[in-house]
Amino acid sequence: MNNILVVGSINMDIVARVEHIPQIGETVIAREVKYFYGGKGANQAVSIAKLKGNVIMIGRVGNDGYGKDIIENLKRHNVKIDGIEVDNQKETGTAFIYVSDKGENNIVVNQGANKNLDVEQIKRHVSLFENVKFCILQLEIPIETIKYVVEICNKRNIKIILNPAPARVIPDEILNKIYILTPNKTELSILTNRTIKTHEDIENASDILIDKGVENVITTLGDEGCYLKNRVESFYFPAVKVKTVDTTGAGDSFNGALSVALCDGINIKKAVEFATYVSALTVTKEGAQSSFPDKMEVNKFINVRRKYDEK
Ligand code: RIB
Ligand code: NA
Repeated sequence: MNNILVVGSINMDIVARVEHIPQIGETVIAREVKYFYGGKGANQAVSIAKLKGNVIMIGRVGNDGYGKDIIENLKRHNVKIDGIEVDNQKETGTAFIYVSDKGENNIVVNQGANKNLDVEQIKRHVSLFENVKFCILQLEIPIETIKYVVEICNKRNIKIILNPAPARVIPDEILNKIYILTPNKTELSILTNRTIKTHEDIENASDILIDKGVENVITTLGDEGCYLKNRVESFYFPAVKVKTVDTTGAGDSFNGALSVALCDGINIKKAVEFATYVSALTVTKEGAQSSFPDKMEVNKFINVRRKYDEK
């Protein structure tokens, strides 16, 4: 009963490093272009696997070279790929990413095969929900599929972590079945239809989601850390300061790490702390999956940081 199921997107990331992100109508020369394994679903799955979680993925790739490479890469990382299907109509999803010298990014996603991850595919793999403790979802696949997965999980007492990215409105009948929702500020704003600027805005918006039935809201605030709110507690976690190289995938590693810690029976506050360390490490390296640390790296990093903070 210790598996983590990821239902979500798989992409090939085509990343151009640029001095600055171009304005509308502006042309800039890239420093270089690189290909990285990405997609929020696959990223979260790989992050879990690297942290020694048992992870199963349901996803969809195209019948092309990217798709083949991606499946091999997931296998290499010990992600169980029984739920991944190859689509003969649509190409593998791609993400076009600009990363500036400051490590900020801009992403355009071509969904491709991810768009065909439908309810029928979930039905074909319903056996994969057995022995699952946590299910992680994001919003790069059709919302009807998400709704269906949420219903199955709800019937089976599987706890759901929903990373509401990219930002969109989510129906209340999904929200009221979510154990943990992990928006960033933009996503929180869109989910609640409010302007989010101050801490008070974040707190009030979190309350709206709690009133809709979300059990825990964890709003990630980039280099300001994150904020946890549930019916009994609310807490700001500071960020772990690091040198930013590329923030791509930081949110994904946060969600992955959170699920691994919770699945191991660690309490939510400690799990958030662990996830904060993991995501801090990922922004120090290029790419999404390529930047995710394994368990040893995280433990080493935490030990060094704690000693440093005690001084
Ligand atoms: O969260 C980062 C991911 O978003 C990238 O890997 C890209 O594929 C997009 O899905
Ligand atoms: Na990164």
